[in-house]
Amino acid sequence: MMKRREFLALSSVAALCIVTGCGGGGGSSTPASGIKSKALPIPELLNPTDKEGIKHYDLNVQKAKHDFFSGTQTDTFAINSTYLGPTLLMQNGDIVSINYKNNLGEAVTMHGHGMHLPPSMDGTAHQPIPAGTTWSARYTVNQKACTNWYHPHTMDKTAEHVYKGLAGLIIIEDSESKTLDLPNRYGIDDIPLILQDRNFNNGQIDYDPGMRDIMHGYTGDVFIVNGAIEPTLDAEAKEIRFRILNGSNSSIYELGFSDGRSFKQIATDNAFLESPVEMTRLLLSPAERAEIVVDLSNALNQRILLKEFRHGKDFMTINVSQSATAETTLPQHLTALEKYDPSTAVRTRPFVLSGMMGSFEINGKSMDINRIDEVVPLGDVEIWEISNDMMVDHNFHIHATHFMLIERNGSRENVSANERGYKDVVYIPANESVKFIVKMTDYADAKVPYMYHCHFLEHEDAGMMGQFVVTV
Ligand code: C2O
Ligand code: CU
Ligand code: CU
Repeated sequence: MMKRREFLALSSVAALCIVTGCGGGGGSSTPASGIKSKALPIPELLNPTDKEGIKHYDLNVQKAKHDFFSGTQTDTFAINSTYLGPTLLMQNGDIVSINYKNNLGEAVTMHGHGMHLPPSMDGTAHQPIPAGTTWSARYTVNQKACTNWYHPHTMDKTAEHVYKGLAGLIIIEDSESKTLDLPNRYGIDDIPLILQDRNFNNGQIDYDPGMRDIMHGYTGDVFIVNGAIEPTLDAEAKEIRFRILNGSNSSIYELGFSDGRSFKQIATDNAFLESPVEMTRLLLSPAERAEIVVDLSNALNQRILLKEFRHGKDFMTINVSQSATAETTLPQHLTALEKYDPSTAVRTRPFVLSGMMGSFEINGKSMDINRIDEVVPLGDVEIWEISNDMMVDHNFHIHATHFMLIERNGSRENVSANERGYKDVVYIPANESVKFIVKMTDYADAKVPYMYHCHFLEHEDAGMMGQFVVTV
């Protein structure tokens, strides 16, 4: 059995071969080392089965063995597959039932991240799925087109469960998204990218963060996309849309292309931006999503790397090997977003992120599942002010609905153009602060809470989380 360092040496040989083409064409070359440079896996697009007007998605949450390194079977957790899960395609207005069958041999919970739904269907620690049982999240899809995701929210174990492979995408379409002239051929020019980093030991996933890793974030040295290490995508020479999820536990990714080409961000976490925003670098903290469109029509026969600049890694090679079989032209106007006027806010709610080695707090309190921290009246426009009082980075995620950023470090000017959309996660670097505006529009329930938390999963599990109820 190889040690971690040997695995890495081999996988970087493989990556070099992808770039230089030394192993012979395309995404399935086999360099002499025996490590395959894989084609980018595309998660299965799961269309629901209609039973009496309800769209059912049957998901089997299971133990599996995945082929990260050829010749080694890596123990994983997965959904209907050997690592990660299928992409659930939903239409706004659908009544859906996501049926999670728990075959893990231990309790888990499954949360719809970014979904606007009743708290009893949210899939937090208040809706546990004991081993051997099935739990269904049943609700009406009630939000704009976007890319969301599902993942465990198991008390104290979210980080480990996600790390072992439990996560998948949810694509929501609406009447607007279907009329826009955007790349929408799933797996051809509309490509999901679940970006992660992992540590391996003897070819096995190594989830063993120490105190320092918990503080600074548990970042791995192997970078993977959709469950493959530095894979290759064979692409058409045309506009390509990437639906990108930072699916890491605690890593900030700064993304861009090796030739410095620009691209346009078209969507934030919960909706399209009003118009595309041109950029050359995209910053995503854990759980944030971005949809981008990159025009590769001038790149036939070129190989372009999707790079990560914070850690100096390559996520993926794009091999522009085929001519376009369909054309799209990115529209200048994508959608209209509803904005609340800050002067109509009823109150400002402060949230201070603080902590020391091993213990993380919001407003001086570590997560307690039996405590409700905030009571938010239905229909009130509120400003939430989040201050990061620590020397390490955090982000902040709320369940229930999206928000819109109105200030960073006290100024509206600091909110960049690509953040002026519907968000459910906001990055807050060390010692910085943000303000966002939010309104709870539906699903009052005085008993069952939603959560807010840092989405660096080690911080969340160490207590940087709180609960709120929405009341009438
Ligand atoms: Cu992505 Cu509370 O979760
Ligand atoms: Cu969430
Ligand atoms: Cu944090």
